[in-house]
Amino acid sequence: METVDILIKNANELITLKGPNKPRTKKEMSNLSIIKKGSIAIKNGIIVETGKNLKYKAKKIIDATGKTVMPGFVDPHTHLVFAGSREFELDWKLQGLSYMDILKKGGGITYTVKETRKAKDADLLKQSRIRLDNMLRYGTTTCEAKSGYGLNTETELKILKTIKKLNDNHPVDIIPTFLGAHAVPKEKSTSEYVDLVINEMLPKTKGLAKFCDVFCEKGVFTPNQSKKILEAGKKYGLIPKIHADEIVDTCGAALSAEIGAISADHLLMSNDKGLKQMAKKGVIGVMLPGTPFSLMMRDYAPARKIIDLGVPVALATDLNPNCWIENMQFIIQLACLNMKMTPAEAICASTFNAACSIGLNDTIGSLEKGKQADIIILDMPNHKFLPYHFGVNLVEIIIKNGRIV
Ligand code: NIG
Ligand code: FE
Repeated sequence: METVDILIKNANELITLKGPNKPRTKKEMSNLSIIKKGSIAIKNGIIVETGKNLKYKAKKIIDATGKTVMPGFVDPHTHLVFAGSREFELDWKLQGLSYMDILKKGGGITYTVKETRKAKDADLLKQSRIRLDNMLRYGTTTCEAKSGYGLNTETELKILKTIKKLNDNHPVDIIPTFLGAHAVPKEKSTSEYVDLVINEMLPKTKGLAKFCDVFCEKGVFTPNQSKKILEAGKKYGLIPKIHADEIVDTCGAALSAEIGAISADHLLMSNDKGLKQMAKKGVIGVMLPGTPFSLMMRDYAPARKIIDLGVPVALATDLNPNCWIENMQFIIQLACLNMKMTPAEAICASTFNAACSIGLNDTIGSLEKGKQADIIILDMPNHKFLPYHFGVNLVEIIIKNGRIV
């Protein structure tokens, strides 16, 4: 009998998400490929087998009776690395100020840019690491992280290097995104800054970023400027992503399809035409319900319509100083209770489809033979508990790369 490193036995539900290795749409999102009384065997960081009553000798056996076992959460949209905090903005939000009002008042991204420019490397690393620890504790085993609080070459690179250091020294895998075009710094005009991003920053992202993102929004970067930056990013091998139609519809959804982006994120205000183009091109729609929650907005992204139109949907925290949340369990709760996604859809969106949205579905996002053993064990009898039992951390055991962390 073969000896494995870890054998997890008798899970009430083993959620494998086994299925076609491409972004799941419509009804496919509801098929979690659950094995009841399921077991999973892990060796050398890799999944050896999933099934019932697996026959292996194991160095460690975990009895998962009564529990749910599933892939670690993948959080595909975070602004993990920033300095300081903006809790003072809550009073302004309560007075009715909008996100853009707060930005104009000296809060928002501008404020965090000041703090992040000032922060020493070690301090930025330390502050960000605490958040990454929190993510892991709540079951996130892989995340994406963006630059974007530097808005000058030196600080944008400082952030990307911090992401790299975190990735090298922390169990959570981090996929880096260059978001130099997150806002326009005070000292530059928009066109001067677009030129700086393209001519000075992008050439220096080599080896430090996989994706290029822009905040395509009224009053920030126009669709034309966004397109110019994302096309330039492609020349440096960076795959496009877009912050699209978060506050105003600027046809960001259509732009994502036109430019061949891997994902378009937010999509609160997107028009149907753009969403249909996304569906046609297979652009993943990343929903970030933490953002409207933190902004006390009444409306969330129309996830039901977006799914019905055939857009593959993923979920993410958007962790940032405006929406400070590391916990994907809470995001799933918001997705179900406020966006009317079903528990199964929300789980697919937080694991497999999330992995697709950062190009990692070959190795993570589902529990299948040969895939990386990134697994969480939750203290709940079935997957419907995830949006149902809220306000506690349901994750009990986290296995990253085949090791209990
Ligand atoms: O995705 N909208 C742009 N960027 C972030 C917020 C950044 C901030 O407010 O600091 C977002 O919501
Ligand atoms: Fe964001």
